[in-house]
Amino acid sequence: MNPAEVQAILDRHAYEAARSNPPEGFPKLPDIPRERYVDPAFAELEKKHLWHKSWVYAIHGDEVPKPGSYLQWTRLGEPLFFIRGEDGKVRCFYNVCRHRGAPVVTEESGESRGVTCKYHGWTYNTRGELVNLRDRRDFVGLDMSCRSLNEVRCESLGNLYFINLDPDAPPLREAMGPAGDAIMEMKPETLIFVEKTAIKVACNVKILLDAFLEVYHLKSIHQNTVDRFLDHRGSAIALWPHGHSRMVTPFKKEGWKDPGVRGLPEIEGVDPYIGTTNMSILAYPNLVTPLAPQGMPFLCFWPETIDTMVIEVHWFSPSWGDGPRPEVWDMRLSNFLAILDEDLQFADHIQKSVESNGVKGFPLNYQERRIYHWHEELDRRIGAQNIRPEMRVPEVLGEWVDARSSAAAPALVPA
Ligand code: FES
Ligand SMILES: [Fe+2]
Repeated sequence: MNPAEVQAILDRHAYEAARSNPPEGFPKLPDIPRERYVDPAFAELEKKHLWHKSWVYAIHGDEVPKPGSYLQWTRLGEPLFFIRGEDGKVRCFYNVCRHRGAPVVTEESGESRGVTCKYHGWTYNTRGELVNLRDRRDFVGLDMSCRSLNEVRCESLGNLYFINLDPDAPPLREAMGPAGDAIMEMKPETLIFVEKTAIKVACNVKILLDAFLEVYHLKSIHQNTVDRFLDHRGSAIALWPHGHSRMVTPFKKEGWKDPGVRGLPEIEGVDPYIGTTNMSILAYPNLVTPLAPQGMPFLCFWPETIDTMVIEVHWFSPSWGDGPRPEVWDMRLSNFLAILDEDLQFADHIQKSVESNGVKGFPLNYQERRIYHWHEELDRRIGAQNIRPEMRVPEVLGEWVDARSSAAAPALVPA
């Protein structure tokens, strides 16, 4: 990060902590309509225009370590798999045989020089090309070159692989904007995969996502954990174009260090400033990552049904060398899960609330503006004209979104 940007964030902490009102001219945010969380037609629009058209984080390269390593992946509800080619490149395909649709991969993961459909034996190489089929003489005019596995867009930031179901999507780096720049600062090409966990939660995916876009809840649900060291009142937020955002929350005590990272190796070349604060990035729509020089988690929020979701936590670290994983990681991971547990406690209750007549919509304050920003972008993606008027989130943040394309500092006044 450049020193001017760091200084702007520090100035912003002081400004936010000292203000007695939202900044001059900050708009009253219209309530977020509850129907957005429960209406099946809205969920369909979301699936079509958001989930099936966005870049989403999927796997770390270490999860398919060798040529021929493959891994099934179904978080978007589509049958997909990743395979590392003989050429070293990681590709993503539909797990759908081009003959009559049987899966070509049936194990969760494995290693193979190619994949063979178990139904009638069509065989594809690691590039997805159809290379062999039984009784070829019986097919009239079959052009094998037109029957490769259907490939899905797959691009990476270092070792971190993202996919997009939309073949016409812009390139990953372009789509991620400043959120991608922030992740690139963590030298993702040097990060190794530590582990991942998935937790199913009985709520609409947006209910839990909303909770990770604000620190207004710190004093209540994280009283004995995060609130002991983070000062939510000084939080500096940057709203970026296309729904991405950053929230930097200062430590209460200067020089405080998370005991869960003490002694761990740090990513070479990362700005030491990152270790002196809590910087959380949202890469729209569903990736939240609190950055740390000792590596970081990727929190991915996946819809399952309209009222169930999965939160996946992937951990990455700079290499710790040949030995076993440093023991302090056990504490780091268990501390994180304890905090996550606190965040999960109301999710299923809020789901019941939005299904009831007990709530019409959610009023949001200035501190919660990243949530509004998230929903505004959703309507842009869907197209407001496709959404019933009572379910829309009107655009009011306008000039409060920082239009600068790089990882710019948050402006004190509208940009
Ligand atoms: S469905 Fe795969 S070979 Fe027939
Ligand atoms: Fe929280």
